[in-house]
Amino acid sequence: GKVVLLLGGMSSEREVSLMSGKGVYDALTEAGVDVTRFDPQEQKVSELEKGGYDRAFIALHGRYGEDGTIQGVLEYLGVPYTGPGVKTSAIAIDKNLTKQIWRERQIPTPKGMLVSLDSDLHYVMQELGRDLVVKPAREGSSIGLTKLKDATIEELHAAIEKAAVLDRHVLVEERIFGRELTVAVMGSGQDAKVLPIIEIIAPDGDYDYQNKYFTNDVRYECPAKLSDDLREDISRACLSAYRALGARGWSRIDLILADDGSFCLLEMNTSPGMTAHSLVPLAAKNAGLSYKELVLQVLAEAKL
Ligand code: DAL
Ligand code: MG
Repeated sequence: GKVVLLLGGMSSEREVSLMSGKGVYDALTEAGVDVTRFDPQEQKVSELEKGGYDRAFIALHGRYGEDGTIQGVLEYLGVPYTGPGVKTSAIAIDKNLTKQIWRERQIPTPKGMLVSLDSDLHYVMQELGRDLVVKPAREGSSIGLTKLKDATIEELHAAIEKAAVLDRHVLVEERIFGRELTVAVMGSGQDAKVLPIIEIIAPDGDYDYQNKYFTNDVRYECPAKLSDDLREDISRACLSAYRALGARGWSRIDLILADDGSFCLLEMNTSPGMTAHSLVPLAAKNAGLSYKELVLQVLAEAKL
């Protein structure tokens, strides 16, 4: 059947999505799939409707593409699509909502709160300390994110201002120092499985937008060097976290393994990056699945 590949889009991660989309397009073409590209920033939904597509591969990231919006359009048009459904996407795009749901299920996640420019920052620091991470609640790729150590009120205020440009929901979290890990989850319900855990080793711990996509300064260890017990605990927590949000198809969960040996989950990405620098392809490769096989497997899971 005919596949439509959604890429680009209108979010601040457009550039990333174009890179993910290129990888996915090349893989599908090479696999002999009849695939057409569709960029919601440049084309009208009516074209999507007229295309007569059997399935959609979503390579969009961020607002409108990963937040339930395009998923809702595809539901309406009756075109099965890759990745989680409308509700899961809408929850997972919001790091604060995600945190609430995980907390209710005893899944460890850093303490945090939503703030605005006129919040009482003394109170925020009293609750969360002065090592903090400030982020727009609904962004990706570290855009608008600031890490603070021993922050002053002024530094915290400036970080909130920076995040607030992108989202009126700004999340402040306690900053957990430790090792940065990510876990890809594939499949649905009881059949969901984790891929090998990746450790991200960035220069000065700075895995920012530039390092994510445009430098070769980051080292990735896959499988991450962890004890068997810890690997099992983390994998189990990620599966529970995936199910708690009602995910299906695939997603990638980012977490921190704290210096004290505990770990906490930061967020779940429902349309994980598929660029040449991205992590799910690396985890898949480690599990014996090529980039092309990964793409075909994700596509095969497309649902309404
Ligand atoms: N938000 C980017 C695309 C990722 O999580 O891979
Ligand atoms: Mg993200």
